[in-house]
Amino acid sequence: MTAELHEARAQAVLDELARQMPFLRKAAEAGDPPLRERMPALAAIAARLEELDGSDWLQSSVKGYVALSLEFLTLQRRLEQTGRYLLSNERDAFERVYSNPEVFSHYYLPGLLLSEALWPNHFAMNRLFVEAFVPKVPAGGRVLEVGVGTGYHLRELRERVPAMEYLGVDISELAVAFARRYADERGEGSMRFELANAAERIPAADGWADAAVCGEVLEHVEHPERLLSEIRRALKPRAPFFVTTVVFAANVDHIYMFDSADEIRELCRAGGWTLETDLVLPIYPTDSPDAVRRPMNYAALLRA
Ligand SMILES: C[S@@+](CC[C@H](N)C(=O)[O-])C[C@H]1O[C@@H](n2cnc3c(N)ncnc32)[C@H](O)[C@@H]1O
Repeated sequence: MTAELHEARAQAVLDELARQMPFLRKAAEAGDPPLRERMPALAAIAARLEELDGSDWLQSSVKGYVALSLEFLTLQRRLEQTGRYLLSNERDAFERVYSNPEVFSHYYLPGLLLSEALWPNHFAMNRLFVEAFVPKVPAGGRVLEVGVGTGYHLRELRERVPAMEYLGVDISELAVAFARRYADERGEGSMRFELANAAERIPAADGWADAAVCGEVLEHVEHPERLLSEIRRALKPRAPFFVTTVVFAANVDHIYMFDSADEIRELCRAGGWTLETDLVLPIYPTDSPDAVRRPMNYAALLRA
């Protein structure tokens, strides 16, 4: 594939965004890292979507991104007025989102996929994932992912870790279907998926995994300390673990509220994890990373 064709696909996403919701096209320009650095990631996602969905990919994935972004803005406003997330328990999140194709398959997961390049904070966390975590995953290693979502992290891993043995655990069969398709069955290594509530039990033996990733799930469970403890049980001692979550940032399925980055660090420390490095990314650029009850993304590389 030529570089021009690649670039043209990313530009087609931006043009479609300008057609559907001009202010979101403008918003994509803002933030750090700048849009030009995010364009190759956008082009790679677009190329994969075109491969899977032919000519339908553009309109439908941008529609998903618009719906997810607008929902975030509405729910964030509500959160800042009420101090509470919309939902407060796992059962409601499962019924409303994870088992509901109208929400999860039609706009949430396609929108989340484009956000990996279009939202600067998601892009910055993915860069940490590729630069700091992936090199620590041994070739032929066993990787546990909790909350497979779109399959974005899985695809990144499959492109970079030779002969990986992958186990993806998710509560939603809609996510597993989406991730399996996006990440592709072909290629070296193996991939296996299990449906489970990972905060209750991860279907893996003690010390099974050489590395683990859990992107944006801690805020989706009632007891994040139980989820962290299950992941630690399934990992070998001192194995690397990449985790992301949010502070005071709304989404339709967020139920556990972290008030600050320090609260997340303390939860991990109390759970026996060693912090290697982390990234605190305020959603409003004028906020300080030390702020309390301000919306932020958080990513960390830990060791079991
Ligand atoms: C916001 S998505 C994040 C997806 C992806 N990891 C990422 O970073 O973009 C949350 C994912 O976690 C899954 N999930 C939520 N609660 C879960 C639980 N208790 N056990 C396993 N998976 C869960 C959802 O089905 C969804 O696929």
